[in-house]
Amino acid sequence: MAEQGLFSSDLINPEVQAALPAGYTARALRLSDYDAGFLDCLRVLTTVGEISKEAFTERYNWMAKNDSYYLLVIEDSSSEKPVIVGTGALIVERKFIHSLGLVGHIEDIAVAKDQQGKKLGLRLIQALDFVAEKVGCYKTILDCSEANEGFYVKCGFRRAGLEMAHYY
Ligand code: ACO
Repeated sequence: MAEQGLFSSDLINPEVQAALPAGYTARALRLSDYDAGFLDCLRVLTTVGEISKEAFTERYNWMAKNDSYYLLVIEDSSSEKPVIVGTGALIVERKFIHSLGLVGHIEDIAVAKDQQGKKLGLRLIQALDFVAEKVGCYKTILDCSEANEGFYVKCGFRRAGLEMAHYY
């Protein structure tokens, strides 16, 4: 039996799956992705740090219990050892306003350097958008650099507001 992922496979957009290159699969993050290069994929985005398997498992289990974290991966199974070549996250915020509205937050989109330009980034966003709609979000928002604005515009997003931050 296939290992269970962080969320149900019913939330995987069949159109995204069909549009991926042969041998590539979109699916929920699994615990075993620790050994399939998930963290290396994230290193394309920013500093990840040295995370032990134990610490990874603890965080994964916390996310699984929390029921608001939809971490998606694209796996390339075309070579002998399957490897994670793309990842992205949807975090669902539960509000009081807008009649207990749900807002999706897209975070931590990363496509391995040697896999960029194959529409995997676009597929990740389409897959996360599908999850957001299915779970009932009324909108999805994200922060990005000016350098990535063009990518998100191609994915159907538009500039709305201004990000501000406090770093601790
Ligand atoms: N600026 C403008 N257009 C872009 C950019 C960009 N930076 N990147 C891609 N595009 C365009 C492509 O040319 C393509 O256009 P087309 O349909 O006309 O051919 C379209 O966007 C889709 O591109 P993909 O092939 O799907 O892009 P890719 O798979 O390379 O993924 C990504 C893009 C995710 C930005 C990737 O380059 C990456 O991982 N970068 C490093 C990490 C990063 O910056 N992640 C985003 C952080 S923001 C966040 O996480 C919310």
